[in-house]
Amino acid sequence: MSAINPKVDTLNNCIRTATPAVYALLSDLGRRIYLPKSILSQSSEASVKADHFNATRAVATADSQLMHLNVLHRNLSTLTPERVYGYPPILGNVELRMFWQTHLRSENPLLEDAQISLPIVTSGMTHCFSLLSDLFVNTGDTLILPDKYWGNYRLVFETKAGAEIQTYPFFNTDMCFNINEFRQTLYESATDKVLILLNFPHNPTGYAITRNEADQVRNAIVSCAEKGNNILVIVDDAYSGLWYDVEVMHESLFGMLVGCHPKVVPVKVDGATKEEYAWGLRIGFLTFGLAESAMQLIEEKLSGLIRVSTSGAAQISQTLILEAMKSIGYDEQKQSNFEILKDRALKVQQIANDTRYADMWDVYPNHAGYFICLSLKSGNAETVRQMLLNEHGIGIIALSETELRVAYSCIDITDIEEVFSKIAQVVQSQ
Ligand SMILES: Cc1ncc(COP(=O)(O)O)c(C=O)c1O
Repeated sequence: MSAINPKVDTLNNCIRTATPAVYALLSDLGRRIYLPKSILSQSSEASVKADHFNATRAVATADSQLMHLNVLHRNLSTLTPERVYGYPPILGNVELRMFWQTHLRSENPLLEDAQISLPIVTSGMTHCFSLLSDLFVNTGDTLILPDKYWGNYRLVFETKAGAEIQTYPFFNTDMCFNINEFRQTLYESATDKVLILLNFPHNPTGYAITRNEADQVRNAIVSCAEKGNNILVIVDDAYSGLWYDVEVMHESLFGMLVGCHPKVVPVKVDGATKEEYAWGLRIGFLTFGLAESAMQLIEEKLSGLIRVSTSGAAQISQTLILEAMKSIGYDEQKQSNFEILKDRALKVQQIANDTRYADMWDVYPNHAGYFICLSLKSGNAETVRQMLLNEHGIGIIALSETELRVAYSCIDITDIEEVFSKIAQVVQSQ
């Protein structure tokens, strides 16, 4: 496990001073846990100061409010008490689970006849990762991740579960997914237990893989399994469906992994969070590429874990998602939100890559999702972020010393030009 974070040290010292009894009672996890600042604190700073544009949040907006599906929103006042307040089953509403499975099969042609479990409903995707870490990760196990990833993985798998995170460079020199480094890291860190997490469309870059790259990823995993290793592959499909580029694969990598080798256990993590524009309803799904007989046993394990954590996802959220999925107009409304995001994505790609900015930043390849990332050629990303926020009321995220993430999901198409020209102005002024 990595060394204790200095911020936790400070927090623990303050707790010891404020309430020695609580400090003395803390568990090992209680001592390790904290809330990393990075993106969350930049976002909350922006929510106060970004009075012009706030492109920090992993949500989508239109017409100055959160995007949502009217088929979902209009049901809020018409539900029966049972469907709002009643206890749902531990693994989720069965009809919703069946609807989600049908949705997975129809969105992912590779899954059409594949052996997949009935999705298990969780209290959001983060809860899925937490359950997987409880079920599969021991202190000291290695989790293989690219060097660019959504920060919450670290909190769940490293801080909470005690895994060692082993990274490989996400991009190769051609700025494509670094299959060679992925393969090498996989082979080098392979013990009889291998844990891999892959996320396409990718947070933070917006990269999506091609069919050819997906083939190579699968082949690398299969040949690692052929050496006798048991491999858990977690596929984070948070931004599933938001593909804007015809060159990339428009379905989940999960479909290529199901049934690929008996020693490979693929798990798909997805949710209503981004796919149904329902971030705060807190509904995630866990789907295993396993046969029904095996799945029944795993469901018992997961039932236990859900019982001791949230004891089930909120009934009202499950009801709302299910009713929306059954409604006339559901597909059209999703398509309409998709078109808005796609138009923005294409405009952002065009503007961010404009030659007038070529000496200021490189743009990471971007095909999907909510975000675009700039790699600054000079200056400091955090300084740029602060100047943009304090002098122009524009919120974006500084990912590292040189990288900026812009959530165009929160910028109207007519404002994109201005946001990038302000970023350029600030970069130039440094
Ligand atoms: C890549 C990725 N996975 C998972 C999630 C988390 O989803 P949830 O809010 O359902 O926990 C996010 C949220 O931003 C994300 O970007």
